[in-house]
Amino acid sequence: MQTAVLDEVGLSEKEFRLISGLVYKHCGINLHDGKKELVRARLAKRLRLCGFTSFAEYINYVLKDTSGSEFSSLVDCLSTNLTSFFREAQHFDFLRTTLLPQLMERKRRRQSCRLRAWSAGCSSGEEPYTIAIVLLEAVEGQGRWDTKVLATDISTAILEKAKQGLYDEQRIAPLSAMQRASFLTARRAAGRKVFEVSDRLRSTVVFRYLNLMADWPVKGPLDFIFCRNVMIYFDKPTQQRLISRYYDLLDSGGVLFTGHSESLTGIDHAFKYIQPTIYMKP
Ligand SMILES: C[S@@+](CC[C@H](N)C(=O)[O-])C[C@H]1O[C@@H](n2cnc3c(N)ncnc32)[C@H](O)[C@@H]1O
Repeated sequence: MQTAVLDEVGLSEKEFRLISGLVYKHCGINLHDGKKELVRARLAKRLRLCGFTSFAEYINYVLKDTSGSEFSSLVDCLSTNLTSFFREAQHFDFLRTTLLPQLMERKRRRQSCRLRAWSAGCSSGEEPYTIAIVLLEAVEGQGRWDTKVLATDISTAILEKAKQGLYDEQRIAPLSAMQRASFLTARRAAGRKVFEVSDRLRSTVVFRYLNLMADWPVKGPLDFIFCRNVMIYFDKPTQQRLISRYYDLLDSGGVLFTGHSESLTGIDHAFKYIQPTIYMKP
Protein backbone atom coordinates (compact mmCIF):
# COMPACT_ATOMS: atom_id res chain seq x y z
CA MET A 1 0.00 0.00 0.00
CA GLN A 2 1.30 3.45 -0.94
CA THR A 3 2.02 5.65 2.05
CA ALA A 4 -0.09 8.80 1.97
CA VAL A 5 2.05 11.89 1.43
CA LEU A 6 1.08 14.37 4.11
CA ASP A 7 1.87 18.04 3.83
CA GLU A 8 2.79 19.90 6.99
CA VAL A 9 -0.76 20.19 8.40
CA GLY A 10 -1.86 16.81 7.27
CA LEU A 11 -4.05 16.77 4.12
CA SER A 12 -2.85 13.82 2.08
CA GLU A 13 -3.26 13.61 -1.68
CA LYS A 14 -5.79 10.81 -1.23
CA GLU A 15 -7.84 12.84 1.27
CA PHE A 16 -7.75 15.89 -1.01
CA ARG A 17 -9.03 13.81 -3.93
CA LEU A 18 -11.80 12.34 -1.79
CA ILE A 19 -12.95 15.79 -0.64
CA SER A 20 -12.69 17.37 -4.09
CA GLY A 21 -14.59 14.41 -5.61
CA LEU A 22 -17.43 14.76 -3.11
CA VAL A 23 -17.64 18.53 -3.61
CA TYR A 24 -17.62 18.22 -7.41
CA LYS A 25 -20.33 15.57 -7.37
CA HIS A 26 -22.56 17.54 -5.01
CA CYS A 27 -22.20 21.13 -6.16
CA GLY A 28 -20.11 21.21 -9.34
CA ILE A 29 -17.25 23.18 -7.78
CA ASN A 30 -14.08 22.12 -9.54
CA LEU A 31 -11.31 21.90 -6.91
CA HIS A 32 -8.36 21.17 -9.19
CA ASP A 33 -4.83 20.40 -7.90
CA GLY A 34 -3.99 24.10 -7.59
CA LYS A 35 -6.70 24.41 -4.91
CA LYS A 36 -5.20 21.89 -2.48
CA GLU A 37 -3.62 24.48 -0.19
CA LEU A 38 -6.84 26.52 -0.12
CA VAL A 39 -8.84 23.40 0.82
CA ARG A 40 -6.34 22.47 3.52
CA ALA A 41 -6.21 25.95 5.03
CA ARG A 42 -9.99 26.51 5.03
CA LEU A 43 -10.87 23.07 6.39
CA ALA A 44 -8.07 23.14 8.99
CA LYS A 45 -10.03 25.93 10.73
CA ARG A 46 -13.18 23.80 10.70
CA LEU A 47 -11.26 20.79 12.11
CA ARG A 48 -9.90 22.91 14.93
CA LEU A 49 -13.34 24.36 15.69
CA CYS A 50 -14.95 20.91 15.85
CA GLY A 51 -12.09 19.32 17.78
CA PHE A 52 -10.83 16.88 15.12
CA THR A 53 -7.10 16.13 15.18
CA SER A 54 -6.70 14.79 11.63
CA PHE A 55 -8.34 15.04 8.21
CA ALA A 56 -8.87 11.26 8.25
CA GLU A 57 -10.95 11.56 11.42
CA TYR A 58 -12.92 14.52 9.99
CA ILE A 59 -13.65 12.85 6.63
CA ASN A 60 -14.82 9.75 8.44
CA TYR A 61 -17.25 11.90 10.44
CA VAL A 62 -18.53 13.70 7.32
CA LEU A 63 -19.17 10.39 5.52
CA LYS A 64 -21.02 8.90 8.49
CA ASP A 65 -23.18 11.98 9.10
CA THR A 66 -26.33 10.93 7.28
CA SER A 67 -28.05 14.26 8.09
CA GLY A 68 -25.62 15.91 5.61
CA SER A 69 -25.21 18.80 8.02
CA GLU A 70 -21.42 18.56 8.34
CA PHE A 71 -21.04 18.17 4.57
CA SER A 72 -23.04 21.34 4.23
CA SER A 73 -20.62 23.11 6.62
CA LEU A 74 -17.71 21.72 4.61
CA VAL A 75 -19.20 23.27 1.44
CA ASP A 76 -19.73 26.55 3.35
CA CYS A 77 -16.01 26.58 4.22
CA LEU A 78 -14.94 25.95 0.64
CA SER A 79 -17.24 28.26 -1.29
CA THR A 80 -16.02 31.74 -2.11
CA ASN A 81 -18.56 34.36 -1.12
CA LEU A 82 -16.94 37.56 -2.33
CA THR A 83 -19.59 40.08 -3.40
CA SER A 84 -20.60 43.74 -3.04
CA PHE A 85 -23.44 46.20 -3.69
CA PHE A 86 -23.45 47.42 -7.32
CA ARG A 87 -20.63 45.00 -8.20
CA GLU A 88 -19.88 45.31 -11.94
CA ALA A 89 -21.83 48.55 -12.14
CA GLN A 90 -22.28 48.38 -15.94
CA HIS A 91 -24.86 45.60 -15.42
CA PHE A 92 -27.02 47.85 -13.28
CA ASP A 93 -26.61 50.76 -15.73
CA PHE A 94 -27.82 48.45 -18.53
CA LEU A 95 -30.70 47.27 -16.36
CA ARG A 96 -31.76 50.83 -15.50
CA THR A 97 -31.28 52.53 -18.86
CA THR A 98 -32.02 49.77 -21.39
CA LEU A 99 -33.55 46.54 -20.15
CA LEU A 100 -36.14 47.76 -17.66
CA PRO A 101 -37.64 50.46 -19.93
CA GLN A 102 -37.95 47.81 -22.72
CA LEU A 103 -39.41 45.18 -20.41
CA MET A 104 -41.89 47.58 -18.83
CA GLU A 105 -43.05 48.77 -22.24
CA ARG A 106 -43.54 45.18 -23.44
CA LYS A 107 -45.37 44.20 -20.23
CA ARG A 108 -47.69 47.20 -20.50
CA ARG A 109 -48.63 46.10 -24.02
CA ARG A 110 -49.38 42.60 -22.68
CA GLN A 111 -51.25 44.12 -19.73
CA SER A 112 -48.93 42.37 -17.32
CA CYS A 113 -47.40 44.01 -14.27
CA ARG A 114 -45.04 41.20 -13.24
CA LEU A 115 -41.28 41.65 -13.22
CA ARG A 116 -39.33 38.54 -12.22
CA ALA A 117 -35.58 38.23 -11.63
CA TRP A 118 -33.27 35.56 -10.25
CA SER A 119 -29.94 36.07 -8.51
CA ALA A 120 -28.40 32.57 -8.76
CA GLY A 121 -25.50 32.27 -6.32
CA CYS A 122 -26.56 35.34 -4.32
CA SER A 123 -23.99 35.03 -1.52
CA SER A 124 -24.62 37.47 1.38
CA GLY A 125 -27.41 39.36 -0.40
CA GLU A 126 -25.72 42.43 -1.85
CA GLU A 127 -26.48 41.34 -5.43
CA PRO A 128 -30.23 40.64 -5.05
CA TYR A 129 -30.74 43.73 -2.88
CA THR A 130 -28.99 45.85 -5.54
CA ILE A 131 -31.28 44.37 -8.21
CA ALA A 132 -34.29 45.13 -6.00
CA ILE A 133 -33.14 48.74 -5.51
CA VAL A 134 -32.86 49.27 -9.27
CA LEU A 135 -36.24 47.61 -9.85
CA LEU A 136 -38.02 49.63 -7.18
CA GLU A 137 -36.50 52.87 -8.44
CA ALA A 138 -37.63 52.03 -11.99
CA VAL A 139 -41.26 51.35 -11.04
CA GLU A 140 -41.54 54.34 -8.67
CA GLY A 141 -44.42 56.54 -9.89
CA GLN A 142 -45.15 54.14 -12.80
CA GLY A 143 -48.40 52.65 -11.50
CA ARG A 144 -48.78 49.22 -9.93
CA TRP A 145 -45.97 46.74 -10.53
CA ASP A 146 -45.43 43.33 -8.97
CA THR A 147 -41.64 42.97 -8.62
CA LYS A 148 -39.87 39.94 -7.13
CA VAL A 149 -36.25 38.85 -6.99
CA LEU A 150 -35.57 35.20 -6.23
CA ALA A 151 -32.18 34.90 -4.51
CA THR A 152 -30.63 31.45 -4.08
CA ASP A 153 -27.40 29.93 -2.85
CA ILE A 154 -26.01 26.55 -1.81
CA SER A 155 -24.49 27.89 1.41
CA THR A 156 -27.00 27.90 4.24
CA ALA A 157 -24.67 30.01 6.42
CA ILE A 158 -24.36 32.75 3.80
CA LEU A 159 -28.14 32.68 3.18
CA GLU A 160 -28.75 33.35 6.87
CA LYS A 161 -26.49 36.39 6.63
CA ALA A 162 -28.29 37.55 3.49
CA LYS A 163 -31.70 37.22 5.15
CA GLN A 164 -30.53 39.31 8.10
CA GLY A 165 -29.86 42.18 5.70
CA LEU A 166 -27.42 43.97 8.01
CA TYR A 167 -24.38 45.66 6.50
CA ASP A 168 -21.67 47.90 7.89
CA GLU A 169 -20.91 51.38 6.62
CA GLN A 170 -18.06 50.30 4.36
CA ARG A 171 -20.19 47.75 2.51
CA ILE A 172 -22.98 50.20 1.73
CA ALA A 173 -20.55 52.82 0.33
CA PRO A 174 -21.62 52.17 -3.32
CA LEU A 175 -25.20 53.32 -2.55
CA SER A 176 -26.03 56.98 -3.13
CA ALA A 177 -27.22 59.12 -0.22
CA MET A 178 -30.76 58.94 -1.67
CA GLN A 179 -30.64 55.15 -1.93
CA ARG A 180 -29.45 54.90 1.68
CA ALA A 181 -32.26 57.14 2.84
CA SER A 182 -34.87 55.19 0.85
CA PHE A 183 -33.75 51.60 1.39
CA LEU A 184 -31.72 51.38 4.62
CA THR A 185 -32.14 52.22 8.28
CA ALA A 186 -29.14 52.94 10.49
CA ARG A 187 -29.05 51.25 13.89
CA ARG A 188 -26.63 49.87 16.45
CA ALA A 189 -25.95 46.15 16.77
CA ALA A 190 -23.32 44.63 19.07
CA GLY A 191 -21.97 48.12 19.78
CA ARG A 192 -21.40 49.16 16.18
CA LYS A 193 -23.32 51.13 13.59
CA VAL A 194 -25.02 48.93 10.99
CA PHE A 195 -27.50 49.52 8.18
CA GLU A 196 -30.57 47.35 7.88
CA VAL A 197 -32.42 46.85 4.61
CA SER A 198 -35.92 48.35 4.59
CA ASP A 199 -39.10 46.26 4.70
CA ARG A 200 -39.87 47.25 1.10
CA LEU A 201 -36.51 45.87 -0.04
CA ARG A 202 -36.88 42.79 2.15
CA SER A 203 -40.31 41.97 0.79
CA THR A 204 -39.06 42.25 -2.81
CA VAL A 205 -36.34 39.61 -2.33
CA VAL A 206 -37.13 35.95 -1.60
CA PHE A 207 -34.15 33.93 -0.32
CA ARG A 208 -34.06 30.15 -0.86
CA TYR A 209 -31.53 27.34 -0.64
CA LEU A 210 -30.90 25.99 -4.14
CA ASN A 211 -28.11 23.79 -5.47
CA LEU A 212 -27.55 24.72 -9.12
CA MET A 213 -26.55 21.08 -9.81
CA ALA A 214 -29.92 19.74 -8.64
CA ASP A 215 -33.56 20.33 -9.63
CA TRP A 216 -34.72 23.94 -9.71
CA PRO A 217 -38.14 24.55 -8.21
CA VAL A 218 -38.25 27.88 -10.06
CA LYS A 219 -41.31 28.99 -11.95
CA GLY A 220 -40.55 30.74 -15.23
CA PRO A 221 -40.62 32.54 -17.48
CA LEU A 222 -38.15 34.97 -15.90
CA ASP A 223 -37.29 38.43 -17.18
CA PHE A 224 -33.62 38.32 -16.25
CA ILE A 225 -31.09 36.17 -14.44
CA PHE A 226 -27.90 37.19 -12.71
CA CYS A 227 -25.48 34.27 -12.45
CA ARG A 228 -22.22 36.07 -11.82
CA ASN A 229 -18.95 34.79 -10.47
CA VAL A 230 -20.40 31.34 -9.85
CA MET A 231 -19.81 29.48 -13.13
CA ILE A 232 -16.12 30.33 -12.87
CA TYR A 233 -15.86 27.54 -10.28
CA PHE A 234 -17.46 24.96 -12.62
CA ASP A 235 -15.98 22.99 -15.50
CA LYS A 236 -17.15 23.47 -19.13
CA PRO A 237 -19.72 20.61 -19.26
CA THR A 238 -21.33 21.93 -16.05
CA GLN A 239 -21.36 25.49 -17.44
CA GLN A 240 -22.92 24.20 -20.68
CA ARG A 241 -25.77 22.51 -18.78
CA LEU A 242 -26.39 25.63 -16.69
CA ILE A 243 -26.50 27.98 -19.68
CA SER A 244 -29.06 25.73 -21.43
CA ARG A 245 -31.23 25.61 -18.32
CA TYR A 246 -31.09 29.40 -17.90
CA TYR A 247 -32.07 29.80 -21.55
CA ASP A 248 -35.13 27.59 -21.07
CA LEU A 249 -36.25 29.54 -17.97
CA LEU A 250 -36.03 32.99 -19.54
CA ASP A 251 -38.86 34.70 -21.37
CA SER A 252 -38.22 35.74 -24.95
CA GLY A 253 -36.38 39.09 -24.65
CA GLY A 254 -35.09 38.00 -21.22
CA VAL A 255 -31.47 38.58 -20.31
CA LEU A 256 -28.65 36.60 -18.69
CA PHE A 257 -25.89 38.50 -16.86
CA THR A 258 -22.65 36.63 -16.20
CA GLY A 259 -19.55 37.65 -14.22
CA HIS A 260 -16.71 39.70 -15.71
CA SER A 261 -14.56 36.64 -16.44
CA GLU A 262 -17.39 34.34 -17.56
CA SER A 263 -17.99 34.72 -21.28
CA LEU A 264 -20.04 32.14 -23.16
CA THR A 265 -17.15 31.44 -25.54
CA GLY A 266 -16.87 27.71 -26.19
CA ILE A 267 -20.46 27.12 -25.04
CA ASP A 268 -23.16 26.05 -27.44
CA HIS A 269 -26.12 28.44 -27.00
CA ALA A 270 -28.77 30.47 -28.81
CA PHE A 271 -28.42 33.71 -26.81
CA LYS A 272 -27.88 36.96 -28.67
CA TYR A 273 -24.72 38.77 -27.55
CA ILE A 274 -25.59 42.28 -26.34
CA GLN A 275 -22.34 43.45 -24.73
CA PRO A 276 -19.63 41.69 -22.73
CA THR A 277 -21.30 39.41 -20.11
CA ILE A 278 -24.85 40.41 -21.19
CA TYR A 279 -26.87 37.96 -23.33
CA MET A 280 -30.47 38.12 -24.53
CA LYS A 281 -32.85 35.28 -25.42
CA PRO A 282 -34.26 36.23 -28.86
C1 LIG B 1 -18.31 34.57 -5.47
S1 LIG B 1 -19.98 34.37 -4.94
C2 LIG B 1 -20.80 35.38 -6.13
C3 LIG B 1 -21.86 36.27 -5.50
C4 LIG B 1 -22.57 37.21 -6.48
N1 LIG B 1 -23.24 36.48 -7.52
C5 LIG B 1 -21.62 38.23 -7.07
O1 LIG B 1 -21.22 38.11 -8.20
O2 LIG B 1 -21.27 39.17 -6.36
C6 LIG B 1 -20.37 32.71 -5.48
C7 LIG B 1 -21.58 32.10 -4.78
O3 LIG B 1 -21.99 30.93 -5.50
C8 LIG B 1 -22.43 29.96 -4.56
N2 LIG B 1 -22.40 28.62 -5.17
C9 LIG B 1 -21.33 27.86 -5.48
N3 LIG B 1 -21.71 26.67 -5.97
C10 LIG B 1 -23.06 26.68 -5.99
C11 LIG B 1 -24.06 25.72 -6.39
N4 LIG B 1 -23.74 24.52 -6.87
N5 LIG B 1 -25.36 26.06 -6.27
C12 LIG B 1 -25.71 27.28 -5.78
N6 LIG B 1 -24.82 28.23 -5.38
C13 LIG B 1 -23.51 27.92 -5.48
C14 LIG B 1 -21.46 30.14 -3.39
O4 LIG B 1 -21.98 29.62 -2.17
C15 LIG B 1 -21.26 31.65 -3.35
O5 LIG B 1 -22.12 32.29 -2.45
